[in-house]
Amino acid sequence: MKVLLTGGAGYIGSHTCVELLNQGYEVVIADDFSNSKPEVINRIKEITGKDVDVYPIDVADKNAMKKLFSEQSIGSVIHFAGYKAVGESCQKPLMYYRNNIDATLTLLEVMEEFGVNKFVFSSSATVYGENNPIPYVETMPITGCTNPYGWTKLMIEQILKDACAANKELSVVLLRYFNPIGAHPSGRIGEDPSGIPNNLLPYVAKVAVGKLPKLGVFGNDYPTVDGTGVRDYIHVVDLAKGHAAALAYAENHTGAEAINLGSGKGHSVLEIVNTFSRVNNVPVPYEIKPRREGDLPEFYANAEKAKELLDWTAELTLEDMCRDLWNWQSNNPDGY
Ligand code: WQD
Repeated sequence: MKVLLTGGAGYIGSHTCVELLNQGYEVVIADDFSNSKPEVINRIKEITGKDVDVYPIDVADKNAMKKLFSEQSIGSVIHFAGYKAVGESCQKPLMYYRNNIDATLTLLEVMEEFGVNKFVFSSSATVYGENNPIPYVETMPITGCTNPYGWTKLMIEQILKDACAANKELSVVLLRYFNPIGAHPSGRIGEDPSGIPNNLLPYVAKVAVGKLPKLGVFGNDYPTVDGTGVRDYIHVVDLAKGHAAALAYAENHTGAEAINLGSGKGHSVLEIVNTFSRVNNVPVPYEIKPRREGDLPEFYANAEKAKELLDWTAELTLEDMCRDLWNWQSNNPDGY
């Protein structure tokens, strides 16, 4: 039986694909390449020496998905496909709700038709909203988000919980990512956002490699260690291993389980900038700018449940994340 990765050519999907292939899984990718490049597939084969069946399709296209499931013996699914830019979701909420929720409903309907009951979902710490205390724990109430992107994650979590209540065979793991950064140590796959990066580390890397003049630090007057925003950064390879562990867990359980994938530690923007610059011996010029709308001062994970249920902890350090990110960016200054 094979594992289907929707959005498997994306940043986290491609790193998870490499990890699963290295662990002996057979993988199928469904990706419309709207936010990824076909070159990623060549790099995955280069790193692992293994082939992956790729379907260049929209997950919301039911006929295309039924064709995939009829041609491939799919045993489980990891669902990455979805739009994920917070700011863009505020400008284009209907596009986000249509794409993210429609694709998930179509996928779940096709899975049901083909009797596939193992599902790992790419959720986000953003579902904790702005009223929960830190560190975030999975049992906390998730009552609302600050942007449509986050709302799609929260709504899909609810859809999956209801689907599990109706189908006792269904096994769902809701992986709540904190801030994934870094790249595979080979430097052959990494984060390749189109246009100007929204997120901190891709922006830092573009400044360091000379593609952008300087970093804007969004606020230094937060109630944090040095006034800049604090987040829980996790190496994308650790995150990929977390997905493999979640898949194994889903094989032996039923019902819906939300699990944080974070390091349990917070780092500020300036700590990140200084670590990246020191580890890679490269300047990262920056200027302090006003706070970004919707940003929270600080959040990070309570990571105990992942250790308890998945026997998984984030092992790679902030230095590893910065070093691997620079290895990717300096060898691929224009991405793929
Ligand atoms: C991190 C810190 C910024 C850019 C978001 C989504 C989350 C996930 C990851 C999709 C904050 C500061 C940033 C910059 C800056 N997205 N910053 N200058 O906002 O924690 O999380 O991205 O899966 O769901 O919510 O990540 O990297 O944008 O910001 O100072 O140019 O860096 O203020 O403190 P965030 P981020």
